[in-house]
Amino acid sequence: MKRISIKEYEFELLISEDKIRERVIELANQIDQDYANKRPILMLTLKGAIIFAADLMREITIPTQIETIIAKSYGYKMTTEGNVELIENPIDLEGKDIIIIEDIVDTGYTMSSLLNRLKEFKPSSIEICTLLFKPKNLVVPIKVKYVGFEIDPLFVVGYGLDYAELGRNYKDIYIRVDKN
Ligand code: PRP
Repeated sequence: MKRISIKEYEFELLISEDKIRERVIELANQIDQDYANKRPILMLTLKGAIIFAADLMREITIPTQIETIIAKSYGYKMTTEGNVELIENPIDLEGKDIIIIEDIVDTGYTMSSLLNRLKEFKPSSIEICTLLFKPKNLVVPIKVKYVGFEIDPLFVVGYGLDYAELGRNYKDIYIRVDKN
């Protein structure tokens, strides 16, 4: 089993690069079909979604616009929605079809803040595309249209996801394990 170490923790392989690639292509095909006559804005949430979004957007064949927003949750796992900071670029979203591209939806606080903010710009539609989804951790009821993989509520790194800002660069996704 492939393993990596980051700081004091060990992680083992959860989802391989090949499996991710297969699923990314399926998601891109689905988006191609659903938005066949549209020109959606892919709204990337930084930093976690960088790698997923870069792969996904290159598999999508309809023309898309790429925009970014920084979504940073402070005091991660705390139970107040006010801990999410959003830093946005000034762009016109009125009447546009937005697909939010996220690496992971965990409690849903980040996504909920993001949805509330983006709705203020009066887009025509907003959907969510997340690589990973932890349904057992979801606190805020949100509808996620495109999900790469549903996973248990355990700590994961790689393919954009970090532990203490490290490990985003790995091609596979790893799960934290106890040291033997
Ligand atoms: C991570 C991840 C999501 C959010 C999910 O972001 O990228 O945005 O947490 O958690 P939630 O559903 O419980 O809100 P983080 O704040 O760690 O920033 P990052 O994208 O820079 O890693």
